[in-house]
Amino acid sequence: MKLTPEEKEMLNGKHGRAAQKSMEILTTLGDIFEAESMVKVYGVQIAGVSYANLGEAGLEFLNEMAEDGQVKVLTTLNPAGMDRENWQALGIDEEFAKNQNRVIDAFAKMGIITTCSCTPYLIGNTPHYGQHLAWAESSAVCYANSVIGARTNREGGPSALASAITGKTPDYGYHKENNRHGQVLFKINTSINGTDQFGVLGKLIGDKLGALEKKIPYISGIPEASVEELKSFCASVATYGGTALFHMEYITPEYDKYPKPSDLIFEINRDDLERARSELIDEDNEIDFISIGCPHATIHEIANIAKLLKDKKVKKEFWITTARPIKKLADAAGYSEIIENAGAKFAADTCCVVAPIKQRFKGIMVDSAKACYYGRAKNKFKVKLGTMEECIKEATK
Ligand code: F3S
Repeated sequence: MKLTPEEKEMLNGKHGRAAQKSMEILTTLGDIFEAESMVKVYGVQIAGVSYANLGEAGLEFLNEMAEDGQVKVLTTLNPAGMDRENWQALGIDEEFAKNQNRVIDAFAKMGIITTCSCTPYLIGNTPHYGQHLAWAESSAVCYANSVIGARTNREGGPSALASAITGKTPDYGYHKENNRHGQVLFKINTSINGTDQFGVLGKLIGDKLGALEKKIPYISGIPEASVEELKSFCASVATYGGTALFHMEYITPEYDKYPKPSDLIFEINRDDLERARSELIDEDNEIDFISIGCPHATIHEIANIAKLLKDKKVKKEFWITTARPIKKLADAAGYSEIIENAGAKFAADTCCVVAPIKQRFKGIMVDSAKACYYGRAKNKFKVKLGTMEECIKEATK
């Protein structure tokens, strides 16, 4: 790779051990993917924050980097394994909480903003069109590339941290103009509404892409989509298909920048959607846990939950997972009081997938296709997908 004098200095250790280690990680990555140079990044999102995933080995790496590492660009964190202020109420044990805090402390020492959310674009790590990023977290990567038109590869935890410390990432993959055009056309011949349905669509497209080499779908036939619907779609298509970028006709900013694919075409009808939805509903599911906010809930979703829960009581464990700044907005608007009076719990900074709750519940109901995937695969729950209204009905019946 062709490095600038500053990048060479970092690699040679002149900027300290963490910068050197970071540059080693990035140049290795660049060599593997045949990048010719580095590109400057505007912001970083780091995943792999839960102590449940990192363990002592991961924490040791972080502590080593934190000895002399400081981030150069705006950097935020993915959800941790617990609500940092309310972990006892969510049944997290003290030992885990202590270790999770050691992880957060190591990130904070490096100057990282410890907001712990998978929707950094809602809380200030908000890039604009065309900016280069180094984001981990598949749903956020997909949102940044597709909905915002920023440019990022799907980073792992160590490479994202390396970019935060150096302010650079190797220039390959989705950073390059010629790797961003749609490859497979999906014509949607039926209406799609709500976060649950957009999640089902993401699963359907993701499953089809899973069998193909080509990963960038171009989707036509959707007249409109809200932020909430798009974030659900991003999470789902990234989970089921490994997709980091899609174009949606008349909706996403690069839809008319490249030619529409004309060789690989799939039509999606109501029957296809119904079939995909049925795959997200397990038989004999004894639901004892409801969770909304995958990806993390927006203030609009929380307002809706408050409206639906007003003067009701939940009869099952019910989490609303969101970023702490959004929770603070909900507090100020009076939504939190209504929700908590109904017996539901906020789980800020965390989510139903990264929290250490494997097998704690029998069955989960969610409005997110991604949460269905990990509810089964990681936490061994039976799952049921529904609309937000259906989730609340289940919780209060
Ligand atoms: Fe976010 Fe957790 Fe879902 S990290 S996308 S809420 S699985």
